[in-house]
Amino acid sequence: MLIDLAKLYGLSGQVAIVTGGAQGMGEAIARFLAGMGATIAIADVKFEKAEQVAAAIRAEGGKATAYDVDMSKEDQVVALVAGVRASEGRIDILVNNAGWQDRRYIEDTTSEFWDHIMNTNLRGPAMASREVVKVMRADRTKGRIVNISSNSALHATAPSLYAYSTSKAGVAGLTRATALETAKDGIRVNAICPGNTTTPGQMTATGPDFPPEQIAAFMPPIGRTGTPEDIASAVLYLATDASAFVTGQTLVVDGGMLTC
Ligand SMILES: NC(=O)c1ccc[n+]([C@@H]2O[C@H](COP(=O)([O-])OP(=O)(O)OC[C@H]3O[C@@H](n4cnc5c(N)ncnc54)[C@H](O)[C@@H]3O)[C@@H](O)[C@H]2O)c1
Repeated sequence: MLIDLAKLYGLSGQVAIVTGGAQGMGEAIARFLAGMGATIAIADVKFEKAEQVAAAIRAEGGKATAYDVDMSKEDQVVALVAGVRASEGRIDILVNNAGWQDRRYIEDTTSEFWDHIMNTNLRGPAMASREVVKVMRADRTKGRIVNISSNSALHATAPSLYAYSTSKAGVAGLTRATALETAKDGIRVNAICPGNTTTPGQMTATGPDFPPEQIAAFMPPIGRTGTPEDIASAVLYLATDASAFVTGQTLVVDGGMLTC
């Protein structure tokens, strides 16, 4: 008998929060999940761009709303989750994608810089997961959380990522800790570790003052950098029943950078 993949990957009637969905990977993730029928809440500090993405999804027959949220601020994260639950009636999926990819060498890392990276990349996902887990448990939703970590969580991709790599390694730990506590509720929690992926943020992170020899060293064995869609299709797998027996994992999507 043929397998009904549309059903396995289908998200009709489901609600997803995608943080950092105004551009880059988050935008692609929002489009992929909306394409499978989910209603998307796009949360971003770049509210105008988030609204444009939401409007583009709606123009193509999808359902999406933009939310003006700074994920590094706990009160705004709490309000986001409560607001989506109130307006959409449920939350099935959280994609913790918003991240800050700035870089500094060890001696240039001030406590302010460190806190900004940690609050955006690690505390934001932790607070959002906490709030979403409360809603999923109360509603008995067999939800899914997908955290966007980084291959720099697993190996030291380049100098000057002292705070960033640490925050992303934290996201991998957060994924396993959340997965263990929520598995009994039927909630699954996984992470993607993207490698070098061409997005507006990546272009900023590897900007003009980035050492050229390191840019060359970032080229994956597969011979090209990743696209936002490469990451979004992996998120789709982890956000649907296609991955029903997978939890606590960090899936590396990096064109073979780490292993080849
Ligand atoms: N591009 C890469 O090569 C790469 C590699 C590994 C991991 N990542 C991670 O993937 C994720 C997406 O990266 P991208 O390359 O698409 O980045 P990007 O900068 O193009 O997009 C990130 C989005 O997150 C939003 N954002 C940042 N801080 C926020 C905050 N405090 N609150 C709400 N929104 C916020 C930004 O406004 C932006 O729209 C990030 O977590 C990043 O660290 C990227």
